[in-house]
Amino acid sequence: MDIHSEKVLILDFGSQYTQLIARRVREARVYCEIFPCNVEFEKIEEFAPKGIILSGGPSSVYDKDAPLVDTRVFDMGLPILGICYGMQLVGQNFGGVVAASAHREYGRSELNYDSESLLFKGLKGDGKLTVWMSHGDRLEKMPGDFKVIGYTDNAPVAAMGNDDKQVYAIQFHPEVVHTEQGKVILENFVTEIAGCLQVWTPGNFIQAEVERLRERIGDRKVLCGLSGGVDSSVAAALIQKAIGDNLHCVFVDNGLLRLGEGEQVVETFGNHFKMNLVHVDAEDRFLDLLAGVTDPEKKRKIIGNQFIREFEAEARKLGDFDFLAQGTLYPDVIESVSFKGPSATIKSHHNVGGLPDDMQFELVEPLRELFKDEVREVGLQLGLPEEIIQRHPFPGPGLGVRVLGEITKERCDILRKADAIFIEELHRADLYNSIWQAFTVLLPVNTVGVMGDERTYENAAAVRAVYSTDGMTADWARIPEDVLARVSNRIINEVKGINRVVYDISSKPPATIEWE
Ligand code: XMP
Repeated sequence: MDIHSEKVLILDFGSQYTQLIARRVREARVYCEIFPCNVEFEKIEEFAPKGIILSGGPSSVYDKDAPLVDTRVFDMGLPILGICYGMQLVGQNFGGVVAASAHREYGRSELNYDSESLLFKGLKGDGKLTVWMSHGDRLEKMPGDFKVIGYTDNAPVAAMGNDDKQVYAIQFHPEVVHTEQGKVILENFVTEIAGCLQVWTPGNFIQAEVERLRERIGDRKVLCGLSGGVDSSVAAALIQKAIGDNLHCVFVDNGLLRLGEGEQVVETFGNHFKMNLVHVDAEDRFLDLLAGVTDPEKKRKIIGNQFIREFEAEARKLGDFDFLAQGTLYPDVIESVSFKGPSATIKSHHNVGGLPDDMQFELVEPLRELFKDEVREVGLQLGLPEEIIQRHPFPGPGLGVRVLGEITKERCDILRKADAIFIEELHRADLYNSIWQAFTVLLPVNTVGVMGDERTYENAAAVRAVYSTDGMTADWARIPEDVLARVSNRIINEVKGINRVVYDISSKPPATIEWE
């Protein structure tokens, strides 16, 4: 079965929510891709979607430089769903009139919907639904052959449709969580209206990708850098399933990992999956180079350069490779093709950017169609341990940027113990999975304390936990007091060398997630 043939296309007009539309469609088990709205029409034809979604966007359709779409899109005979700005485009194209609304509408609103419409099939709202609005323009005059299928107090045409043409448009955002049952509306569009089969499942993805990898790689060799993080772990497990022993993994243990992390990588991939795994114990070399260095950017540079040196040395020992595997995800791919223009850094090559030119290989990126939540589902299905799959993101320089000031083995060990306690308590309180990232920082500050009858003069540590969806912005996590109390007590009592714990209550911006 070709799981990619059941698909819709999302044209991006610059909305901050476009990726969310794609995620909701994927959750409905239908494949989709995002193209910038100004993509050549031939690319759209070539993609051959079964339906098209026009995203929202910050512009107004009557702005001089409003982003438009090739109008041939409306003549393809395909089902179309316009959302917000996409609705104005649909309205304008089919002969309606768009005007600035007397009131901007932003926030929750009550939609009265036509429960006979296919778009609203199966909604449990009895004709009323809370939806999320965010617009300045509205449709003043609906195109003649459309009918109203939803209205709010402020928008007489909040949803419209033409069943014969299979073209629909809605003023609100079904992709955000504030719109109740918004998922059902998007699912109705892709399945009931566009007629896509719901075959985009982790199991089908694995099967299709394994075949694709086998075909492309044949009996040639692939090299993969394993970090123990979710992306490289899932990429390696998937490639191994496809080509078995022709996959060679290199795990560079820089001595800056979390407690037990190195052992777990070896246990999972070496012992359990029986991969060809080289475990490079480079702790001493990294720590020697870092001795006396306190500047965070210098630390990053040293760690990054040494990683490349270690990785390259192992790769050369293993002989010639045709492919280098990477855990690039779909958001990295979209970022570089977005309507807003190429992003300043193309992250997909971030990890190999420093490898020497004379190492020739093609990239294998088996996860480049997936969102993070899909990667996790695929990983679980491949049998990777939950602990690896659900693990919070961890920066490449590791504890190097969490032991503030000078890095020594002793300070890394102290930090590892404290961090393990913090994480254990978050698991115990069932908070770990709702937090984007949580960790401990060892401060370059000694403070006075008293233990028993004795004065102590030891390190202070900070614990940090944030909510976020992508790491770009973050809010500090509201961890219950009793959990914080336990974390602090346990760290001070169990970790020799720490006598004070503080909780970081800064959001990003203006702070960053990491301290260095
Ligand atoms: P900041 O601290 O910039 O972090 O708010 C945002 C996200 O990126 C991670 N991070 C890094 N990841 N190399 C990496 O691979 C780095 O040097 C680095 N610095 C920060 C950070 O953990 C968070 O998830």
